[in-house]
Amino acid sequence: MVSKPVYMDNHATTRVDPRVLEEMLPLFGEVYGNPGSVNHVFGWDAADAVEASRRTLAGLIGAEERELVFTSGATESNNLAIRGVCDRKKRKGSHIITARTEHHAILDPLNQLGRRGFNVQYLPVFDQNHSETGRIDLQQLADSISDDTCLVSVMLANNEIGVLQDLQEISRICQAAGVPLHTDATQAVGRIPIDVKHLGVDLLSFSSHKFYGPKGIGGLYIRKSRPSIRLEPLMLGGGQEGGLRSGTLNPPGIVGMAAALKYCYEGLDDENERLRNLRDRLYAGLLNNIDHIFLNGPRLDATQLRLTNNLNVSFSNVDGEALMMSMRDLAVSSGSACSSTNPEPSHVLRAIGLNDDMTRASLRFGLGRFNTEEEVDFAIEMVTQSVGRLRALKNL
Ligand SMILES: Cc1ncc(COP(=O)(O)O)c(C=O)c1O
Repeated sequence: MVSKPVYMDNHATTRVDPRVLEEMLPLFGEVYGNPGSVNHVFGWDAADAVEASRRTLAGLIGAEERELVFTSGATESNNLAIRGVCDRKKRKGSHIITARTEHHAILDPLNQLGRRGFNVQYLPVFDQNHSETGRIDLQQLADSISDDTCLVSVMLANNEIGVLQDLQEISRICQAAGVPLHTDATQAVGRIPIDVKHLGVDLLSFSSHKFYGPKGIGGLYIRKSRPSIRLEPLMLGGGQEGGLRSGTLNPPGIVGMAAALKYCYEGLDDENERLRNLRDRLYAGLLNNIDHIFLNGPRLDATQLRLTNNLNVSFSNVDGEALMMSMRDLAVSSGSACSSTNPEPSHVLRAIGLNDDMTRASLRFGLGRFNTEEEVDFAIEMVTQSVGRLRALKNL
């Protein structure tokens, strides 16, 4: 028996793993000191917990401890990276390159910089008919960089269609030109192996609640050697995190985030295999039951090109919003308007060439650690019934 409602929106957020919660609890109770209190044992204990977590997290992503700054999440990390580089007096120029399919936590700070006089270039991505749907054209990136380019920011994994950008090649191009590279890795951390040195990035953002940790905590990796990246802080105050992020640290969140990432990387290959099987079962079931459905994003067998847990499909002649509303027991999301706090239809689906109708007709499934085969079968059943009903109503 499936316990309802069923959650399949793991790109939006994930449930805190009970083991993570267990590791966090002492930090609300016995170890409640302020890690900034350097004069007593309460502060020392909290600081020890924070620094042990920093060591764990840095080790898991191939960084050094001094290269990690704790933030409230990826939105803040992205803002700190982008505005931090661009607000430096000694930065190189005023040209910034990004992709059209970035999250709003990248696009909005960049739009603001555009209004302040920066020249922001939004690279297109390959469309649905291309073998690398959703990826940027590396030649176009190389050709776009000039002496005036001060930053490139390209996400590692897309939150709507799951496409992975070729960050290693992107970093080679940026390094050759001496341009700092930031990546929003929010959907990738905990889902694919991450080694910042291997990726060659200078700045990398992540958020704990996307990988079974608590909300309101995240981090920014900032390269400290060859070359050392210098940032202007967003917030001023107590001078925590080397002056880059003032404000009392969040020890329960930090401890939870480190525990969460540790659990993700302990069984990553097996979990990805399991998620791939669930996703394939879901797609096969939908294909088998419903006519005129279309996969958005890279082919499912292109394993190098996509996250294992993402499935984004459009159902022609159906409104995604109406579809979601008719499935109260299934939590997914849609590329149609009004599905989130942002009233625009998905800019990502448009960027890969979908028209407004097909954008509106899309559903995004985000599978996760707690999903089962039975839940996938339940989802197939729910979507099949609802699409059938909505199409029948339209044809009346
Ligand atoms: C790719 C990407 N970047 C940034 C964010 C923002 O993360 P947060 O809301 O945790 O700050 C999200 C969250 O949906 C995301 O998917």
